[in-house]
Amino acid sequence: DTGGYEHYLLKEISEQPETITRTMSGRLDERFHVAHLGGLNMDARETRGFRQVKIIGCGSAYYSGQIGAQLIEELARIPADAEPASEFRYRNPVVDPDTLYVAISQSGETYDTLAAVQELKRKGGRVIGIVNAVGSAIAREVDGGIYLHAGPEVSVASTKAFTSTSVAFALLALHLGRVRDLSPADGRRIVDGLRRLPGQIEQILAQGEEIAELAKKYAPHPSMMFVGRVRGYPVAREGAQKLKEISYVHAEAYPASELKHGPLALIGPEMPTVAIVPDDELLDKNLTTLGEIRARGGRVLMVGHRAPDAKLADDVIVIPKNEIELDPILLTIPLQLLAYYAAVALGRDVDKPRNLAKSVTVE
Ligand code: BG6
Repeated sequence: DTGGYEHYLLKEISEQPETITRTMSGRLDERFHVAHLGGLNMDARETRGFRQVKIIGCGSAYYSGQIGAQLIEELARIPADAEPASEFRYRNPVVDPDTLYVAISQSGETYDTLAAVQELKRKGGRVIGIVNAVGSAIAREVDGGIYLHAGPEVSVASTKAFTSTSVAFALLALHLGRVRDLSPADGRRIVDGLRRLPGQIEQILAQGEEIAELAKKYAPHPSMMFVGRVRGYPVAREGAQKLKEISYVHAEAYPASELKHGPLALIGPEMPTVAIVPDDELLDKNLTTLGEIRARGGRVLMVGHRAPDAKLADDVIVIPKNEIELDPILLTIPLQLLAYYAAVALGRDVDKPRNLAKSVTVE
């Protein structure tokens, strides 16, 4: 039941203030500014011992893993990276005893991710899961984990599981960081930031009509570019993925810094760019990129925290600011809405896009 919404996708996008609240519920400690994650089944010595974090997942789960890797590096200062589980399982990866492996899956049934977990376990790897579906195959296979508690996700395109996974990574990063050198003050800053997220998501959802108008304007283009730098890059990838999977508009995602090394050749009036431009230390670099796109006649839809000089963007979606490490979670929401309304404008089968399945349980 879509609960009065036209599609499950819009329902699930709209539920995110509650779903991320459930992911955080009972896990934030106001006194010591830490996260309690009992399901990890890990003692303090083990928690302090990991020298590296490797994250695997497929599709949107992989992109949320990239956000997770960034959070873990920034807050816990442990080298971390994400890789598609579908690639990892086939390349005979080096399995290292001092690495914490993290498998992400909404359904807990994605075969590529499950096979990667089984391979890791066979070789003695320590694997935890970030999973939504309780008791699913991946949840049963891992050594411990964090359940999302986001409720069933019906629409094929993942939205609430994506943001809940990103929040779960913020909790994990806090957990790993506070037994290393993350200060109590920075711990408090992140805990307070997490608490502000649901209200800020409400504010973005309230901009739905405005975003629907922008979606109508941009949807007729055959192709769109999505760019972002560092924290903004996985957001750009997820934005492009959402657009292509439900609206069938061709979308490419690139690090903004890579544009001039190739894809700038594609930019012109027929290929607009969605630029993720948070108010962080890379703001000036991102604004320079917008100038380069505009100089080639490219249209720019900017998503960020303040409107730039009118010469740099045709349209702007301004969203509330949180802590820089948590901003990617909020920056994702307007891109979900943009993809949703583009798919509606083009008359697509929003909840069941062609050729895709909610969870791919076969080889
Ligand atoms: C794909 C779905 O097939 O699987 C995506 O279309 C999803 O939406 C991906 O992100 C991974 O699924 P899961 O259940 O492992 O998170």
